[in-house]
Amino acid sequence: MKFKLPETTKNWTSLVGATIALVALFIVIFLLFLTLAFDQGGSYLGLLIYILLPAILFAGLLMIPIGMLRKRKQLKDAGVQEFIEKPLPFIDLNNQRHRNAFGIFIVGTVIFLFISAFGSYEAFHYTESVSFCGETCHNVMKPEFVAYQNSPHARVKCAECHVGEGVDWYVRSKLSGLRQVYKVIIDDIPKPIATPIQHLRPARDICEKCHWPQKFYSRTIRTSRHYLRDEENSEWDIDLVMKVGARFDALGLDEGIHWHINPDVKIEYVSTDDKRQDIPWVKYTNLSTGKVEIFESQDDPLEEGELSSLEIRLVDCIDCHNRPAHNYNPPEFFINTAITAGDISIDLPEIKSIATEICSEVYSTTDSALLGIKSGIEEFYSENYPEVIEENNDVLQKAITSIQNQFQKNIFPEMKVRWDAYPINIGHIKSKGCFRCHNDNHISESGKVISRDCNLCHTINSQGPPDNMMTTSINESLVFVHPGDDVEQEDWEESLCSDCHEGNGP
Ligand code: HEC
Ligand code: HEC
Ligand code: HEC
Ligand code: HEC
Ligand code: HEC
Ligand code: HEC
Repeated sequence: MKFKLPETTKNWTSLVGATIALVALFIVIFLLFLTLAFDQGGSYLGLLIYILLPAILFAGLLMIPIGMLRKRKQLKDAGVQEFIEKPLPFIDLNNQRHRNAFGIFIVGTVIFLFISAFGSYEAFHYTESVSFCGETCHNVMKPEFVAYQNSPHARVKCAECHVGEGVDWYVRSKLSGLRQVYKVIIDDIPKPIATPIQHLRPARDICEKCHWPQKFYSRTIRTSRHYLRDEENSEWDIDLVMKVGARFDALGLDEGIHWHINPDVKIEYVSTDDKRQDIPWVKYTNLSTGKVEIFESQDDPLEEGELSSLEIRLVDCIDCHNRPAHNYNPPEFFINTAITAGDISIDLPEIKSIATEICSEVYSTTDSALLGIKSGIEEFYSENYPEVIEENNDVLQKAITSIQNQFQKNIFPEMKVRWDAYPINIGHIKSKGCFRCHNDNHISESGKVISRDCNLCHTINSQGPPDNMMTTSINESLVFVHPGDDVEQEDWEESLCSDCHEGNGP
C-alpha cells in the first residue's frame, strides 16, 4: 500500500517549508547534542539553538498550511468539484489520505510541543543568563559586564536586577530586549548608554528580595588608604564609622542613612536635569503622622509653575545606590587600590600623580590607551628619574602592567564609558551624591534644613599619615582634615567636595 497524503500538500511552498523545518530541527538536535555531550558552546551557540533556529523551524512549519491553503484555492479555482463543494478545509478520517495526514499532524504536534516546552524552558534560562546579557553583544555590554564581575553582585544574575520576578516584567523585558538587539544590529546604541534607565523596575521590588529593610544593617567601619600626588606618594588614611543604620538595632530604621526607606517615611523630589543631579525641590511626608515638609533650594529655586511640568520621583534604593553592579572607578581611586594591593610600588617617585594623570586622558580605543600608558610612563621616568629605568625597571614594568589592568577594569574608550560618564549618587566626592539634597541650602517653611553636618552620616574616627594618625573614640568624631597641605578647612566648608573633585579633578 502506498503512503499517500492529501492532494493539497503537493505544492512547492509546503514542500520547501517542510524541508526547512526538518533541516532546522536536525541542526538544533545536532547542536544540542554537541553542547550537552562536550559541555561546550558559548552565548552565540545558545543564540542559534534557542532563538534563531527555532524561529526558522517555526517559519518552515508555518509554510506548510499556507501552501496547503493556497493549493486548495488553486484547485477550487481550477474547478475541481470536491473543493467547490467543500470550500473550507475538513478532516475525514474515513479517507486514508486524511488519516495519514492527521496521524502525521498529531504525532508531529506532540513532538513539536514537547520540543518547544523544552526549548522555551531553555530559551527562558538562556535569555535570562548572565552570558546572554553580558557577552552576546560583548562590545556594547563590555563595560557593564566587566564592572559587574568586579562588583559585590558578581554572582547575582543580570536579570535578577534588570527584570525581576513576574510574567509581566518578563514580557516587557523581552520586548525591550528585541528592540535593543535590533539597535545593536543597526549600530544605533548610544555611547555611552544613557542612564537613568527609563522604565527601570522600581528598585525596592528588586533589591528588597535580597536586602529587606527589617534586616537593615548596623553601623559599619569603612577604612580607606589614599596616596597623595607628591614625590613620596605619601599615604593618608581615613577611617569612618558609616551610620548605615541606627546606633542600636532596636531603633530599626528610625535614624541613620536608611531612615529614607523607613516604611513611615516618604521622600519625593524633582530634578531639572536628565541625570537627576540638580534637585531644587524635596518633599518629606511622615506617613504615620501625616506631617509634610517641603524643602526648597535657596540658590537655585524652581520657577513659578515649573513644578507641575516635572516628574515627581519617589526616593528608592537607586537614588543612592545607582552603581551597585557597574561602578566605574576614577583613576585616583583605582591607583590607590593598586598601590595598596602592592602591585604598584610606592618607591616609584610620583607614581600616583603620573599614573592618575595618564589614565585620565581621553583615548579612542583600549589598545591605544594601553600603549599610551606604557609609553607615557616610560617617557616620564626617562626624563625625570632615569635612575628608575636603569636600576628598577622590573618594578616599573610591573607597575605599568598593573595600571593597564586597572584601566581595563574601569575605563572603556570604545563605549565612551568612564567614571565621569555616570555620576555616582552615594557619597559626595566625585559627584554631588548626597549633597544634591544635603547641602545646607534646602530649607523648609518651618526653617528646617537638609543638613550637611559632617557627622550626620558618618563619624571620622581616624585620619592622617599612618605614622601620625589623629584618632578619637568610637561615636566621637574628628573634624575633617583634608589630605595634604593644599586645601584649608574654609575651602571645603565653603564649597562642595565635587566642585574640585568632579570630572578630571583630583
Ligand atoms: C545588583 C543589581 C544589578 C545587577 C546584578 C546588574 N545590574 Fe545593570 N544596572 C543596575 C542599576 C541599578 C543600574 C543603573 C540604573 C540607572 O542609573 O538608571 C544598571 C545599569 C545598567 C546599564 C546601563 C548603563 C550603565 O552602565 O549604567 C546596563 C547596560 C546594564 N546595567 C547591564 C547589565 C548587565 C549586562 C548585567 C549582567 C552582566 C547587569 N546589568 C547586572 C543594577 C544591576
Ligand atoms: C539576588 C539577590 C540580590 C539582589 C536582587 C540585590 N542584591 Fe545587593 N547583594 C547581594 C549579595 C549576595 C551581596 C554580597 C553580600 C556580601 O558581600 O556580604 C550584596 C551586596 C550589596 C551591597 C553591599 C556592597 C558592598 O560593598 O559590600 C549593597 C550596597 C547592595 N547589595 C545593594 C543592592 C541594591 C541597591 C540592589 C537593587 C538594585 C541589590 N543590592 C540587589 C544580593 C543581591
Ligand atoms: C532627595 C533628597 C535627599 C538625598 C539625595 C539624600 N537625602 Fe538624606 N535626607 C533627606 C531629607 C529630606 C532628610 C530629613 C531632613 C530633616 O528632616 O531634618 C534626610 C535625612 C538624612 C539623615 C538623617 C536621618 C535621621 O534622622 O537620623 C541621614 C543620615 C541622611 N539623610 C543620609 C543621606 C545619605 C548618606 C545620602 C546619600 C547617599 C542622602 N541622605 C541623600 C533627603 C535626601
Ligand atoms: C539615602 C540614600 C540611601 C538609600 C535610599 C538606600 N541606601 Fe543603602 N546605603 C546607603 C549608604 C550611604 C550606605 C553605606 C555605603 C558605604 O559604606 O560606602 C548603604 C549601604 C547599604 C548596604 C550595605 C550594608 C552593609 O552593612 O555593608 C546595603 C545592602 C544597602 N545599602 C541596601 C539598600 C537597599 C536595598 C535600599 C532600598 C530599599 C537602600 N539601600 C536604600 C545609602 C542609601
Ligand atoms: C548626607 C550624608 C553625608 C554627609 C552630610 C557627609 N558625608 Fe562624607 N560620606 C558620605 C558617604 C555616604 C560616604 C561614603 C561614600 C562611598 O561609599 O564611597 C562618605 C565618605 C566620606 C569620606 C571618605 C572618602 C574616602 O574615600 O575615604 C570623607 C573623608 C568624608 N565623607 C568627609 C565628609 C566631610 C568632611 C563632610 C562634611 C563637610 C561630610 N563627609 C558630610 C555621606 C556624607
Ligand atoms: C579646593 C578644592 C578642593 C576641595 C573643595 C576638596 N578637595 Fe579633596 N583634594 C583636592 C586636591 C587638589 C587633592 C589632591 C591632593 C594630593 O593628592 O596631593 C585632593 C585630594 C583628596 C583626597 C585624596 C584623594 C586620592 O587621590 O586618594 C580625598 C579623600 C579628598 N580630597 C576628600 C575631599 C573631601 C571629602 C572634600 C569635601 C569635604 C574635598 N576633598 C574637598 C582639592 C579639593
